[in-house]
Amino acid sequence: MADIDDSLDARISFGCPVGVQAILRASWRHDVDALKLLLDAPGKASCRDPETGETPLHAATRSMGGRNEDDDKAFPTEIAAIKTIEKLLIGGAIWNDVDDNNETPGCVAWRLNQTGIYEEMVRAGARAEMLFAILGGYEELESDFEEEDYVAEVSDVDADTKMEVKLEAEGDDASAQDLAAVSVDTKEAPYLESRLTLANGKLIDAAGNGVMMDWEADIMSRSVDAMLGPVDAPLANKKRVLNIGFGLGIIDSMIAARKPARHHIIEAHPEVLMRIDAASENPEAAGDDHAANFGAAWEASGEKEGDEGANKVHRGRWQDLCPKLLADGELYDAIYFDTFGEDYSELRRFFTDFIPGLLDDNGVFGFFNGLGADRRVCYDVYTRVVEMHLSEAGLDVVWQDVEVPLKDGLDTAGAGAWEGILRPYWTLDKYRLPICTFMG
Ligand SMILES: C[S@@+](CC[C@H](N)C(=O)[O-])C[C@H]1O[C@@H](n2cnc3c(N)ncnc32)[C@H](O)[C@@H]1O
Repeated sequence: MADIDDSLDARISFGCPVGVQAILRASWRHDVDALKLLLDAPGKASCRDPETGETPLHAATRSMGGRNEDDDKAFPTEIAAIKTIEKLLIGGAIWNDVDDNNETPGCVAWRLNQTGIYEEMVRAGARAEMLFAILGGYEELESDFEEEDYVAEVSDVDADTKMEVKLEAEGDDASAQDLAAVSVDTKEAPYLESRLTLANGKLIDAAGNGVMMDWEADIMSRSVDAMLGPVDAPLANKKRVLNIGFGLGIIDSMIAARKPARHHIIEAHPEVLMRIDAASENPEAAGDDHAANFGAAWEASGEKEGDEGANKVHRGRWQDLCPKLLADGELYDAIYFDTFGEDYSELRRFFTDFIPGLLDDNGVFGFFNGLGADRRVCYDVYTRVVEMHLSEAGLDVVWQDVEVPLKDGLDTAGAGAWEGILRPYWTLDKYRLPICTFMG
């Protein structure tokens, strides 16, 4: 990223309205008394420079730039900055507006090493998200995957291009008829109607979004350890496991290697399901595709051992299938959730409505924690939000930090691991792995 000029002169453009300039300057000076007079109508705390996108929160944060920790004034200045920020937030300032450098105020605080202000922004974000949740919706974070974007992106792809997208592992194009034969209700889920490509360890949808990539294998492996214990732990092999979202089948292969007592998978995408069928029928052509291990023979192997249904791919959306698993009295020692094309409200719905009934009292619930992971402040906000919602659902969570080797090809959009992917969904050097258990 090019060096950012944090001077106020660079941030207030020539054409910035005088009233906005006054608010930006007062925020920059941390002049709360002036702001009390200036913020005299709704909306003023969230004003912005029309060219640079500078908001009062950016200005109040940015003016801390260049101070060092030994500076006598650093401590009182941070207090003044935080008082200003609180005043702006109460006045309706928006915590996640992005400026022309693609930075939220929290991003500016992080870059300038202003940890107190950064923390204030994370708290503000978590409060805002909790409030939106109570009001029955979610504020889509700028960094977040948005379903409308998804629909727009998919419909931008013309019909011919769509038909070129194919399951390369199978070597031929899945016809509409083949897909129709895989009966899954894809209603209200545009992703489930999208064609997929599998190549070079990446599962990609028709719009170019990465559905699953093999760099996540280490995270999957650690998630399995967190849920089932170390490989050689006593009883590790006897557990009943439910995994939601097959993707590349990475985590399911790791689970299967532990020889669990029960292994259920829920998968909704017709092409992923077809891949499992085709790969298991013709493992030689499937190469190293994990899907080859989860077809009819795998399902039948449970029957042979006298437990019909011990191994099963449940075909459809978890939203439709989990009520049936509940009704059938299924209970699991470990449940993992990693879907795609769904927003946070669906994850919350899953752990609130289904974990209490499907997870054994001493069981462990894990999920792929990629919420907001293309922007540190959003990742930290979602960590707080999900922690509070897990707690409302009666679950404790412990976070385990996992290093992500960004330098091994994950640090550049459009190149390395991200080649052929529309936009990186991961930019952080640490993954926060959730281990959830029932409280008490
Ligand atoms: C990120 S991938 C899972 C990757 C997997 N953890 C692995 O190790 O390869 C997400 C999967 O969830 C599936 N999926 C998306 N929405 C779903 C839903 N509502 N119900 C069931 N599966 C869904 C997708 O088709 C995709 O195969």
